[in-house]
Amino acid sequence: MIAPIMGVQDKSRELMTGSDFKGANLLIVGGAGFVGSNLAHILVEQGPEKLVIVDNLLSADTVNLPDHKAVDFRFGSITDDRILRDLPNDLDFAWHLSCYHGNQSSIADPIADHDNNTLTTLKLFERLKDIEGLKKVVYAAAGCAVAEKTYNDAEATKEDAPVSLHHDSPYSISKIIGELYGNYYFARHNLPIVKARFQNVYGPREILGAGRWRGTPHTVWRNVTPTFVFRSLMGEALPLDNAGNTSRDFIFVEDMARGLMACAARGETGEIYNLASGRETTIRELAETINRLTGNETPVELKPARDWDRSGRRFGDPSKAREKLGFEADVKIEDGLERTVAWTQDNLPEIKRCMRQHVAYLPEVRQYLGD
Ligand SMILES: NC(=O)c1ccc[n+]([C@@H]2O[C@H](COP(=O)([O-])OP(=O)(O)OC[C@H]3O[C@@H](n4cnc5c(N)ncnc54)[C@H](O)[C@@H]3O)[C@@H](O)[C@H]2O)c1
Repeated sequence: MIAPIMGVQDKSRELMTGSDFKGANLLIVGGAGFVGSNLAHILVEQGPEKLVIVDNLLSADTVNLPDHKAVDFRFGSITDDRILRDLPNDLDFAWHLSCYHGNQSSIADPIADHDNNTLTTLKLFERLKDIEGLKKVVYAAAGCAVAEKTYNDAEATKEDAPVSLHHDSPYSISKIIGELYGNYYFARHNLPIVKARFQNVYGPREILGAGRWRGTPHTVWRNVTPTFVFRSLMGEALPLDNAGNTSRDFIFVEDMARGLMACAARGETGEIYNLASGRETTIRELAETINRLTGNETPVELKPARDWDRSGRRFGDPSKAREKLGFEADVKIEDGLERTVAWTQDNLPEIKRCMRQHVAYLPEVRQYLGD
């Protein structure tokens, strides 16, 4: 059983007034995942009639699903014709959050990425276009697929920033294709699409090792924040490539869930909104804050830049979402990290259970399991 997160529901109730989704029929594709499950936990508190969650548990675990009478969990891929056919025809709102997680996995297996990150979007939109009365479909787009990769002074990426035709992962290509299909289905079929461009989300319910092996150690070490929090709790030296000068815009998952709800409730169809904190944090600052919170006294390990590294500095411009949706990310990174560290400590047994699934592929995780 995953330990509860304090404060999330109170905040969402206050900000969403509770009326937007009360009595509504909702769908989250990818709703057992990190962001999807946080959204689901907040939505059930709003009193929906039903919340259908479709997930094939490729990078997720059922422990994240809310135990609530409104939840109707359907295990399987959203490319499955039976699952598509059986979706309710009286849906009010849908969030499409499934993906093939993440960049490294997509490089290891581009076909699996296509099946779970591109075909998914096409088949879902093709099905949803026939649902009369559907008010909004929110698509999870990726800011990393748009941002300029630079180590010079970074500027906040706006929604209308140019999109390159040259991408360094199939994942990134798939996320852009999803936006293109969203635009097409809006123009051609009036699908009420709203695109939400995510920055780097962090927070509770991002479980290291959740789901099936996806070809690389990133199956376990999913993203920088949960990896650093776990390694820091284990007293390890956090490794900083390029001395940690890379920067990102970190947004707490509870803020992200509220932003996704704002996109559904108030987003204009056909439009795109950055869901970003608008603040730039270097990886070194992230590591040092985490070490302070966990009490890890092992110094960070400064490493040289790798010659292929073009990850650079980047952050998103949150002004359009603020003006048009009334949405602002308001959890400060220190507070969000404090809650993430506390959640990780409380849920170490579940996290280790998910890591254990991959011991045969990644024997190094055995050292953390106490075997
Ligand atoms: N977390 C971030 O920082 C971030 C940044 C940019 C964009 N995004 C996007 O946000 C969304 C959610 O990301 P997340 O971090 O929660 O990842 P996640 O891996 O935790 O969630 C993705 C979910 O999709 C499910 N899934 C995969 N293939 C599926 C299929 N064929 N049918 C049904 N479900 C399937 C997975 O099992 C998982 O539950 C994704 O679309 C991702 O591309 C996330």
